[in-house]
Amino acid sequence: MSIFAPFFEDKSIEDIYTMLEKIKQILEEVQSLTASTPEEAEALRIKYLSKKGEISALMDEFRTVPAEMKKEFGMRINELKNLATERINELKAAAAAQETVADDIDLTRTPYPIPLGTRHPLTIVKNEIVDIFSRLGFTLAEGPEVEDDWHVYSSMNFADDHPARDMQDTFFVEAHPDIILRSHTSSVQARVMEKQQPPIRVICPGRVYRNEAVSARAHCFFHQVEGLYIDKNVSFKDLKQVLLLFAQEMFGPDTQIRLRPSFFPFTEPSAEMDVSCTICGGKGCSMCKGSGWLEILGCGMVDPAVLEANGIDSSVYTGYAFGMGIERIANLKYQVKDLRMFSENDVRFLEEFTAAN
Ligand code: PHE
Repeated sequence: MSIFAPFFEDKSIEDIYTMLEKIKQILEEVQSLTASTPEEAEALRIKYLSKKGEISALMDEFRTVPAEMKKEFGMRINELKNLATERINELKAAAAAQETVADDIDLTRTPYPIPLGTRHPLTIVKNEIVDIFSRLGFTLAEGPEVEDDWHVYSSMNFADDHPARDMQDTFFVEAHPDIILRSHTSSVQARVMEKQQPPIRVICPGRVYRNEAVSARAHCFFHQVEGLYIDKNVSFKDLKQVLLLFAQEMFGPDTQIRLRPSFFPFTEPSAEMDVSCTICGGKGCSMCKGSGWLEILGCGMVDPAVLEANGIDSSVYTGYAFGMGIERIANLKYQVKDLRMFSENDVRFLEEFTAAN
């Protein structure tokens, strides 16, 4: 005899068990329902929650449950009903959302053209310079922008009282007299020589800093490319030949060069190189201010004092070095009137170089 026996006049104990089983089973089913379309979700609603649905059927049976058990059963059936309603509504919403997304995507459509960035004009020109010298056997070398006095000045044969060390030109880091922002890429010459014995043939692009008021024609930072070649029997005519070849590769095969005597502490003899005007070809125009020539770089034979300061025997080796401003070359190629354009990142300006990429 079951302990429930006294209460069940209108429902047998077996019936009560069957009902409890049924509630449990539907509960499990409801928890694992899935629907991939709103129609499938609606079919589930009909199956469980409509007037003739399985949960409604339980409600009908509930009427015959003995009064003492009604509270307990009612609670369970209600719980089941709420859970089923919630679950099926969720499935409906998810299926509907998925359908809208799927409706919006046309998988046969070609993708939108994705706008690609352009290379910065200075990068384009730098790559071109490096590329020309790579073909001549120069390899890439780099050094830090935050440098010490030794690499920027002393190792490059600047006298202690050389005016370039003055605050006017050089940025000092935290007013520390020894730590500075390099004011030319010649510091990379020293960085290479201290690590490597000749033959040395390097090209060193990089950013340099000078304490200048910013205007259309000057900036407190700009970019240079340094070249250094040290070996036995390197002469000035090697330098001249390499620079002629560079000029003709960069500005066209008819380009001419001329070298004017100049001075740098780290080269002797020193020269400045002009190329025939890239606009008028030498006849004289506003670009070359009527002279037919445009100055593009400084160069010379490495001063023996520099070789010695950097651990290279100047009685065995000779070398040449040159340095040019990338902005300057870019200006000649693209006639950019205002230096500031290079660092403002105005997309309208940058987009003009799409074709040059
Ligand atoms: N460092 C020089 C400058 O900044 C350029 C240069 C490099 C000159 C190498 C001669 C040799 O103006």
